Amino acid sequence: MSSPAQRAKKLFIRTFGTNADDCYQAPGRINLMGEHTDYNEGFVLPAAINFHVVIAAKKRDDGLFRAVTDIFPDEFIEWQFGLENEVNDDSDTLSHWSQYLKGFTATLAQSGLSISGMDVAIVSDVPVEQGFSSSSALEIAFGTAINDLHQLHLSPLAVAQLAQRGEFHHMKLTCGIKDHMISALAEEEQAVLIDCLDLDYDSISLPKELSLIIVHSGKYAEDIQHKYQTRKSECLEVAEHFGLDSLRHVELFQLEREKSNLDESLYKRARHVISENRRTQQAARALEMNNTRRLSQLMADSHRSLKDDFEISLPEIDLLVDIINNEIGDRGGVRLTGSGFGGSVVALVEHELTDDVVLAVEQEYYKKTGIEAQVYLCSATRGACRIDD
Ligand code: GLA
Repeated sequence: MSSPAQRAKKLFIRTFGTNADDCYQAPGRINLMGEHTDYNEGFVLPAAINFHVVIAAKKRDDGLFRAVTDIFPDEFIEWQFGLENEVNDDSDTLSHWSQYLKGFTATLAQSGLSISGMDVAIVSDVPVEQGFSSSSALEIAFGTAINDLHQLHLSPLAVAQLAQRGEFHHMKLTCGIKDHMISALAEEEQAVLIDCLDLDYDSISLPKELSLIIVHSGKYAEDIQHKYQTRKSECLEVAEHFGLDSLRHVELFQLEREKSNLDESLYKRARHVISENRRTQQAARALEMNNTRRLSQLMADSHRSLKDDFEISLPEIDLLVDIINNEIGDRGGVRLTGSGFGGSVVALVEHELTDDVVLAVEQEYYKKTGIEAQVYLCSATRGACRIDD
């Protein structure tokens, strides 16, 4: 079977009738701890995982960009650098995959960084809409290809920042920076503790004895942009109550002192964010110390907080957490991951329990919900790079 790089190169030749200059890849990601903390200028602990967007690319010198992907084989997209908003076809819709690419080049143009165009053929094995951030992987693979082929000498962090700005300005998506950063700068077998206030980050080794399992519930969040935005506004309202821009520097004791002056649900949203920030730093320490029992407890606390205080879980997600917890006890941890209202749970469990966890999910989840869960056995991989075959 051919590798993703070979598939991308073949698609490139078939489409453009010539060889690509090079191939680049960027991984999807999973968040181990720190949910809804990034836009509150807090801490997150994601890891890049072994599913990738791969791009075969060739530099052009006429300012034109042309793109194809094996996911939508009938589509051929092109645009002129700096004129990203002047395209008039199906790809005009803001959610079209090509907008992630156009957002990136539009942001480069607005930053005054001039580039001369590129042809790209894209293949991907990152599951779409399963919470692996396939869109960030696409942007970062594309940005890495541009950076390298046009010799812009941008750091991986700068590529991540351009990608996030592209989403914000071009697509009006108000996401945090976590997904772009982890896809751009992760290291092999490491999670990354990111401080979203100053974008400082530290790689954290994942214990060798733990397996990384992601289980998608088969439930998809409805109207997620609206729900996400509501949570963001609620957090901002509490921050403003304290005269601050974000919840980052509000302490739990200060929140408790103000409890009677806050609406009950606003108080709970803030309690989640403030306690989750602390848990995220503690989880990083627990991983470094190989302290699985502590990690187990922190992940359980995080899930409870997401369920009861931030109120973004669903009965199906809670059921998955219960099924997995029953198998692992304190020999691993499990929690909801991502924006919530559907989606996946992430589990870190001792290797010898992996088969039991998979079996329990397969047997019990379907029996109780009639829904087939998707189980992914993952490893933590490095961030975006140029690749050979
Ligand atoms: C989505 C966003 C992230 C983050 C999570 C919640 O995945 O893209 O930036 O806010 O939700 O932790």
